Amino acid sequence: MRFLVFSASLRAESFNTRLAKLAGAAIEAHGGTVDRAGMSDFDCPSYDHDVHDFPPGAAEFRRRLEANDAFVIAAPEYNGSIPGVLKNAIDWASRYRPQPFHERHALLISASPSMVGGNRGLWALRVPLEHLGARVYPDMFSLAQAHQAFDAEGRIASPQLRERFAQMFAAFMDLVEAAKHYPCAKQAWHEFLSEHPDAAMHRPED
Ligand SMILES: Cc1cc2nc3c(=O)[nH]c(=O)nc-3n(C[C@H](O)[C@H](O)[C@H](O)COP(=O)(O)O)c2cc1C
Repeated sequence: MRFLVFSASLRAESFNTRLAKLAGAAIEAHGGTVDRAGMSDFDCPSYDHDVHDFPPGAAEFRRRLEANDAFVIAAPEYNGSIPGVLKNAIDWASRYRPQPFHERHALLISASPSMVGGNRGLWALRVPLEHLGARVYPDMFSLAQAHQAFDAEGRIASPQLRERFAQMFAAFMDLVEAAKHYPCAKQAWHEFLSEHPDAAMHRPED
């Protein structure tokens, strides 16, 4: 199983980039293959509906989504919501056909110096992803007080949180594997969401 993992922060000392690194390690510890990316790989000019050529960042985002079974985003919370750079990249990539988020599994994590760890931003991030038909994992992980939540080795300092992080990744990976290999799991998603198996029948393109 292949997982695209990236942080949605461009900042060199980003807490979310540190958390993305731990996400990659958790996936590898559970037997997955990690495709590590950075937000700068997917950075795009502001979306303009009059521009018909996709920018290189959008092309790369689409390529990496399609090359993996699932994706993990470590996203900062900006003003209680999604960083603009990430929403802009999602908007660009969503214009490809076939639309690359559709039926792709996603796990959302965040880190913030605040007491809620950027969790409101993750709820906001669910909206465009679920709108696009991504299978966003119900559980999410938000690391509060991120400026003091990592230990000297770069691990999550709290043993309890470390354990929860590892368990959440293991459960997510098991679900992605089941969805890939068992047609009944895929069918269950369609039934759960009352979707028509033919995406064209279900989702308007705009
Ligand atoms: C424009 C802006 C808005 C922010 N809004 C929030 C916010 O609503 N909630 C929050 O927890 N942190 C907020 N922060 C603080 C970020 O969580 C903090 O800068 C964090 O370190 C960003 O993630 P990073 O370390 O991965 O770059 C904001 C930061 C910026 C620059």
